[in-house]
Amino acid sequence: MDMAKIGPGIAGGNNRQTLTDEDGEGRRLFQSWCEDAGLTMAVDKMGTMFMTRPGTDPDALPVYVGSHLDTQPTGGKYDGVLGVLAGLELVRSMNDLGIKTKHPIVVTNWANEEGARFAPAMLASGVFAGIHTLDYAYGRKDMDGKTYGDELQRIGWVGEEPVGARKMHAYFEYHIEQGPILEAENKQIGVVTHGQGLWWLEFTLTGKEAHTGSTPMPMRVNAGLAMARIMEAVQTIAMANQPGSVAGVGQVKFSPNSRNVLPGTVVFTVDLRSPDQGKLDRMRAEIEAKAAEIAASLGVGCSVEAVGHFDPVAFDPTLVARVRAAAEKLGYSHMDIISGAGHDACWTNKVAPSTMVMCPCVGGLSHNEAEEISKEWAAAGADVLFHAVVETAEIVQ
Ligand code: GLV
Ligand code: MN
Ligand code: MN
Repeated sequence: MDMAKIGPGIAGGNNRQTLTDEDGEGRRLFQSWCEDAGLTMAVDKMGTMFMTRPGTDPDALPVYVGSHLDTQPTGGKYDGVLGVLAGLELVRSMNDLGIKTKHPIVVTNWANEEGARFAPAMLASGVFAGIHTLDYAYGRKDMDGKTYGDELQRIGWVGEEPVGARKMHAYFEYHIEQGPILEAENKQIGVVTHGQGLWWLEFTLTGKEAHTGSTPMPMRVNAGLAMARIMEAVQTIAMANQPGSVAGVGQVKFSPNSRNVLPGTVVFTVDLRSPDQGKLDRMRAEIEAKAAEIAASLGVGCSVEAVGHFDPVAFDPTLVARVRAAAEKLGYSHMDIISGAGHDACWTNKVAPSTMVMCPCVGGLSHNEAEEISKEWAAAGADVLFHAVVETAEIVQ
C-alpha cells in the first residue's frame, strides 16, 4: 500500500509507468526498504535493480526472485509489485529466522516489464537473456518519440553493470494470475508450468486526409475504415482459433485525430497470444494477410512491424515440481496453470532454470485499477515462494 501511494492512478490503482519520475520514486523507496533489510544494490545498464543477500559459499550462483514495479497507465497495485515485495518479505523472514543459505538470494526489479510506454514488454529481461541488444532497447521510443536510453538517463537509473553479465542458479517469479481460473477453481496456488506465446504487431495504414463533409463517399481513401474492418477481422480470426488463443487491439492513434478530417494515417497495435505454437504463428499470418487484403480493397497503404514476440514457454520441470511440493507440504490447495500474461520469467528461462508461483485475483481482473487480491491469497503464495526459494538456495545449519 505504501508503494501504491507513488504514481496513484485515477481510480484507486497506479500509473507508475516505466522511466517516469514516479518510477524513479518507487525505485528509491524499494531501495531504502532493501537496504534496511541488509541487501546490497547493483544496477545494470538497462536500469534493472539487483538487491543481494549474501550466501555462505562465495562460488555459489545466486537464486533470483523478482518481478517488476512499473505499471500500466491504468494499472493495479499488485501486477508485478507483489512479486518484488514478496522477494523482500522473504529476505526479511530469513533475517528474522536467522536462516543462512549456501547460495546468495537476489531480489530483482526488472525494468520495463509492461511494455506500455516502450514496446516490447519484458525489455530489460529480454536484453539480459540475449534476445535484444542494448542499442535496440535504448532506441525504443514512446508515443511522444522519447527514447528508453534518454529517459533512463533522465531519471538517473543507468547502472554500471553490463546487462546479462551475471549468471543465475535459478529464477523464481511470484505474480497474481491476472485471469479467472484459480478463483473459479477455488485454488490458493497456481503452479505455473507454461507461459503462452505472443506476437505484438504494429500496423500503419496510410489513407488520404480529406474533409469529412465535402468529400463524396466514392472519393475517400479512409484509413480509419480500414482499421475498423481489420479490428473486426482480428476478432474473427481469434474466435476461429479457439480454444485458448486470444487477440485484440489495445492502442490506436489517428492522425490528425480531428472530428472533421478523414484520418490520413492510423497506427494501431494487435496483441495476439496462444499457448500453441502452431495457432500463434497461423493467427499472425492470417491477420497480416487479411489486413493487406482489407487495406488494398479500400486503396489504403498498409505496413506492419512485429514489435514484440516470444514463443510459448515451458518452465523448468525441477523448479515446477519444487513449487508444487511446497504447496502440498504447506497444505495449500493448488493446480497447474499456464500463464496467460508475459513475465520476465519467460526470458530468464532462456538462460537459467526458471519458474513462477501464482495467486488468484478477484474476478480475474488485471490491467485495471480495480485489480484486487486478499491478504490470505497473497500470504499463501509468498509462503510457497519462501519454501521453494530457500530449498533451492540450500539452508546452511
Ligand atoms: C504484460 O503485462 C503482458 O502484456 O503480458
Ligand atoms: Mn506483471
Ligand atoms: Mn502487466
